[in-house]
Amino acid sequence: MLAILTQVKTIALISQKGGSGKTTLATSLATQGCLEGLKTLLIDLDPQGSSYKWGKRRDIPAPTVMAGQAVALEQILEGAEGQGVDLVVIDTAPHSEKDARKACEVADLVLIPCRPSIHDLDAIEDTLNIAELTKATAFVVLNAVHPNAPKQFEDVKNALEMAYDPIKVLAGFYISNRSEFVHSASDGLTANESEPEGKAGQEIKVLFEMLDGIIGIYPPNVNNARTIE
Ligand SMILES: Nc1ncnc2c1ncn2[C@@H]1O[C@H](COP(=O)(O)OP(=O)(O)OP(=O)(O)O)[C@@H](O)[C@H]1O
Ligand SMILES: [Mg+2]
Repeated sequence: MLAILTQVKTIALISQKGGSGKTTLATSLATQGCLEGLKTLLIDLDPQGSSYKWGKRRDIPAPTVMAGQAVALEQILEGAEGQGVDLVVIDTAPHSEKDARKACEVADLVLIPCRPSIHDLDAIEDTLNIAELTKATAFVVLNAVHPNAPKQFEDVKNALEMAYDPIKVLAGFYISNRSEFVHSASDGLTANESEPEGKAGQEIKVLFEMLDGIIGIYPPNVNNARTIE
């Protein structure tokens, strides 16, 4: 973590596996930050530009979405701090170890989305190694879990924890496989914006609160931000 950053909180989404949910969670957490009254910046390090293009599809100006390069991250974060940004979310590319490592180095918290499939479990070791090397505070968040199969979550969580001790999987929590995550993105929205009271939107809200519990996302001047809906 950069010593110079005193206020801004940074969450990085990394996974060397493609399609695990990095962009979906990055955009959703960034919009949740905005809904909570936080000045939020979403940085897209992925040359595919999924988050950046999502930002271009939006009619809503917040969060600020920018395409960036990993080598410039520290500079971008210093600029964000100077502009009073409260929360930075970093979306990263799959198969890009160097960039993922850089994102881990600057982040207060690293989230590793993982689908509940054997292929995702097989592939996760590379990502865990990157997080481990940087000593980042990192959690696996299971994503796209069948909403009516809680045992699937328990089985995958147990398999992960047994294979990669002392891996941390977000306790008792997963993001379900829900179509609203897909549909909302087409309109430059996220599920928590398009259907805030829907199940997908509520899961993002809970995830945001869990992350706040871990790193304390809210700066002192927006302590009451949760009352803003
Ligand atoms: N919880 C979910 N429920 C339903 N669909 C999901 C969920 N999470 C992600 N998806 C869908 O899965 C696809 C891949 O998700 P996403 O783009 O977020 O993954 P990614 O890790 O950013 O991929 P890449 O590695 O290519 O950048 C997208 O079509 C997205 O809408
Ligand atoms: Mg992506």
